[in-house]
Amino acid sequence: MNLMHQEGQQFKVLLELAQSQALSYLQGLPHMPISRPAPVQPSVDLPERGMGTSAALSQFQTYFSQALVASSGPRYWGFVTGGTTPAAIVGDWLTAVYDQNPQSVTGPGDVSAAIELHTLQLYRQLFGLPDGFMGGFVTGATLSNFTALAVARQWAGQQLGHDIARDGVTSGIRILAATPHSSVVKSLAMLGLGSRHMTYIRKPADREAMDVAHLEALLAQQPDVPTILISSGGTVNTVDYDDMQAIAELQKRYSFWWHVDAAFGGFAALSPRFQDRLAGWELADSITIDNHKWLNVPYDNAVYLIKSHHATLQVQTFQNSNAPYLGDPLADFSYLNYGPENSRRLRALPVWLTLLAYGREGYRQLVEQNVEQACAFGGLIDQSDFLQLEAPVRLNVVCFSLKQYRTDKEKLTQFQKKLEALGQVFMTPTVYNGAYCLRAAFVNWRTSPDDLRLAMESMQEAWKAVREA
Ligand SMILES: Cc1ncc(COP(=O)(O)O)c(C=O)c1O
Repeated sequence: MNLMHQEGQQFKVLLELAQSQALSYLQGLPHMPISRPAPVQPSVDLPERGMGTSAALSQFQTYFSQALVASSGPRYWGFVTGGTTPAAIVGDWLTAVYDQNPQSVTGPGDVSAAIELHTLQLYRQLFGLPDGFMGGFVTGATLSNFTALAVARQWAGQQLGHDIARDGVTSGIRILAATPHSSVVKSLAMLGLGSRHMTYIRKPADREAMDVAHLEALLAQQPDVPTILISSGGTVNTVDYDDMQAIAELQKRYSFWWHVDAAFGGFAALSPRFQDRLAGWELADSITIDNHKWLNVPYDNAVYLIKSHHATLQVQTFQNSNAPYLGDPLADFSYLNYGPENSRRLRALPVWLTLLAYGREGYRQLVEQNVEQACAFGGLIDQSDFLQLEAPVRLNVVCFSLKQYRTDKEKLTQFQKKLEALGQVFMTPTVYNGAYCLRAAFVNWRTSPDDLRLAMESMQEAWKAVREA
């Protein structure tokens, strides 16, 4: 009997090993540092005869596990890094165990695409979005933006009488945005539309949202040029929102594809206190929402939502047209022909479990709690003698600089390095309004008021060390 077959009879022991390693990670998470020395370079080569799972796991511990940082912990506020709810971890473990490929709802006994479709139904209910949105799961908001913009590209080609999916990219398509996320620009590059091809809409002073009058002027100047409008449902530095209601009004008079990147800002829809920011987004053609951010589902997990009346364009874009064994793309619904990936893991399962486990109420509380924390942290920054808020705290992100060194990149880097060395809190640098800033994004269910105190103490210590250096 070979090793795989032997181990196939020892699942209980192996899964218990994994469970014990997982428990020690999860229990240590609140106290684990947010940065560590680089991992030890492994000195093992590919073995001729395998060592077995238990020995491989201890090799992993020797070389890598000690170097893991608390990126799903309560004080990891860099980028927009969600934690992981207990139900989502259970769902993600089972996703690996079940190892389903959610391609087709018509295949014999294929329940996995049905799970995906039902999860999307719960998802629309959570965000208050109409059933007219169809969707699917992809790896992250980058691929969600990519998917929606690929269908937008097909729509724009159709306006010009050109089937881009078959005949290739054409010129004559206009793309408009005010503050697109870098992943949007990356998607334009991947789609052959060109990352330099964006026309930037003006913004009012101290805002990241678009000036709608300028948008209207651009639309009116060239009403016949097929236009893709990419709007922000929460910008990454200051969580500013484009005016969705005003855009919806313009949609009545001008023809354009309207995409909303609401990777994390879409979660404002979960609380009556913040949902006005998104009013009108239900009229968009496509929406991006990330699950590994504020839904607190493990990487890699996001959703794209595209209005179902665009299904033909979507199938034209993503169909497997040269594989008769995969069926007729338009006649039989299959995810194979609706998204960029063919085979995928069942990303819907952790989402399904966490939505049922915590419900509308649980997620409303999470969003409100994180926004309160961001506001409280913003208040502490405001009172501090060495830090300065660079933008009002609009939702869950706090963007601030070193008060007397706003334009001194070197000083901010020194401060950030000291802070990371202390290991208590992690934030990412950015440039906003001409200032070098740090930004803290609150999207983790584990974060508590104590974490704000610890972070402030750590920042004071780091600043003292920079001054004395
Ligand atoms: C608004 C927005 N869009 C897209 C992305 C890209 O997300 P991902 O890294 O999951 O692909 C992010 C990530 O922070 C974001 O904030």
